[in-house]
Amino acid sequence: MALSGLVLVGFVCGHMLGNLQMFLHSDWINEYAYKLQHLPYGLLWVVRTVMLIAVVAHVITAVMLVLENHRARPEKYVARDTLQASFASRTMRYTGFILFFFIIFHLMHFTIQNVHPEFKDLEVRLEGVSGSHGSLESRTIWGVYDKLSAHGEFPESEALAVHDVYSMVAIGFSPTYWYVSVFYIISMGLLCYHLMHGISSMFQSLGLRNAIWRVRLDRIALVISLVVFVGFASIPVACLTGLIEPITPLVAVH
Ligand code: HEM
Repeated sequence: MALSGLVLVGFVCGHMLGNLQMFLHSDWINEYAYKLQHLPYGLLWVVRTVMLIAVVAHVITAVMLVLENHRARPEKYVARDTLQASFASRTMRYTGFILFFFIIFHLMHFTIQNVHPEFKDLEVRLEGVSGSHGSLESRTIWGVYDKLSAHGEFPESEALAVHDVYSMVAIGFSPTYWYVSVFYIISMGLLCYHLMHGISSMFQSLGLRNAIWRVRLDRIALVISLVVFVGFASIPVACLTGLIEPITPLVAVH
């Protein structure tokens, strides 16, 4: 459980940093998304497979843990400390369950895009496109990737337009769909709570949480969880308040 949790926490932190590029020029997230989708050697599917295995392992070990706890102690706790511990682990089940459905919706929203099929038509020309040789002169950090890997270069035919992920997110969280943003912000709150307890118990499983480090590690878990909450929730909030606006309005697609 700790190992699969570690993989998932790593993904969540990386995904949050990637998403925060929404606060930079739209080229940043659009080029980043393009490059992830076009990773060489089928690496995207390697990462997706590792993630899927981590999620399945996390769910299976969680169910096993619940069953084991129940078998070991079928009657209710009396002492206050153990009561608190049992409250934390019970809420982990519920928050985990809700987060599972959040991820399903999220994949339908932004990856498969069947919640808004019109998102598939959002295309934009990266402003960094040089025009010469049909290749991209990147103005973002992703230019480093181009220099390191020949596979990173834009094929001539695709140099002009990439999927406009920036506008997709901005429209998905726009005031018209305020209820979607509210759902995301609540889910991020649950993710924060889940991570707080999850990271603390991960430290314990890894044998790091002794009497001296207990308080410090709990604080580290709290800080990571709050950073993840603020990092993710800031995006729907920025779209709702007009700080982030689509560069391609949805009406222009039809
Ligand atoms: C405000 C919060 C979030 C935003 C704006 C966001 C944005 C996105 C976007 C735009 C994509 C599609 C990328 C593409 O296909 O080009 C995506 C994919 C994904 N997101 Fe998020 N995300 C958020 C929160 C989360 C959270 C909290 C999780 C997990 C707990 C998560 C898990 C995923 C997964 C698993 C994918 C699929 C990656 C793949 O293509 O294999 N996201 N997200």
